[in-house]
Amino acid sequence: MKKDFISILDIDEQELEQLLNEAHELKRQKKAGTKHLLLAGQTLAMIFEKSSTRTHISFEVGMNQLGGHALFLNAGDMQIRRGEEIRDTARAASRYVSGLMIRAYKHSTIEEYAKYATIPVINGLSDLEHPCQLLADIMTIQEHFGSTKDIRVAWVGDGNNVCNSLILATVLTGLRVTVATPEGYEPAGDVVRKARSLGGDVTLVREPEQAVKDAEVIVTDTWISMGDEGEKEERMRVFRKYTVDTQLMKHASPDARVLHCLPAHRGEEITDEVMEGGQSLVWDEAENRLHAQKALLVRLLKK
Ligand code: CP
Ligand code: NVA
Repeated sequence: MKKDFISILDIDEQELEQLLNEAHELKRQKKAGTKHLLLAGQTLAMIFEKSSTRTHISFEVGMNQLGGHALFLNAGDMQIRRGEEIRDTARAASRYVSGLMIRAYKHSTIEEYAKYATIPVINGLSDLEHPCQLLADIMTIQEHFGSTKDIRVAWVGDGNNVCNSLILATVLTGLRVTVATPEGYEPAGDVVRKARSLGGDVTLVREPEQAVKDAEVIVTDTWISMGDEGEKEERMRVFRKYTVDTQLMKHASPDARVLHCLPAHRGEEITDEVMEGGQSLVWDEAENRLHAQKALLVRLLKK
């Protein structure tokens, strides 16, 4: 394993397989009430520049269940806010804790932490990627379909950070992804080129119906990611026909399942009916953040 987990492609196919096997095992052990104190005495510092519910809870609870400790740090309360440099923060923190999880506006912020930290750095979401979300999503697809190989996935909406990680994940999983976005909201060009050059199956289309046609998994996310709030009015207009609703679901395979990283905005990117309906896997997906990240923490931090 590389020192850091900043992109989903920081692990290879084999490492992903091992990590997910460990995640499924940790989930089984947890359900059976078996303790697994694999990181006793270790501390994960979690630096948040943005809001979080799932990432904060799942990393903190995960460290606790592994016998370690998690330290919540609001970036706005740290000396960084007053101009301390990332390289100094990273080196000082490396003398106290075993790992750093960072949720930042800019992907380059996380890369800079990783450059100077002597401990593993985990991307807890940036403007470019959300690799921890993909670990949970892949785990959820494996659980439901038995495998990810050749499973057709449709992404509907904004070509954002989660979409970018999904596209890169095609390289590791055999997932076949079709992305439907309005013009100007496509996933990052570099990401699409990279995935394709490494053998990933990625198709970009405009119409949601075209993307979900015969798809087995439909994925969506907010139209207004953290940092995009200033474009709210424009985005609400542009994305209007990109709602995952029962009408759109009729174009997918009848056995299709729906994923959403959450938080959801019912009535915008997804309807209440689809969120609460029998095809939704969103709660398993949210739960799997915990198990997948525990496996990641064990792989990165275990001595
Ligand atoms: N999916 C996800 O990362 O959720 P939070 O923003 O609540 O952490
Ligand atoms: N794309 C969303 C994901 C939130 C978990 C955002 O960046 O705000």
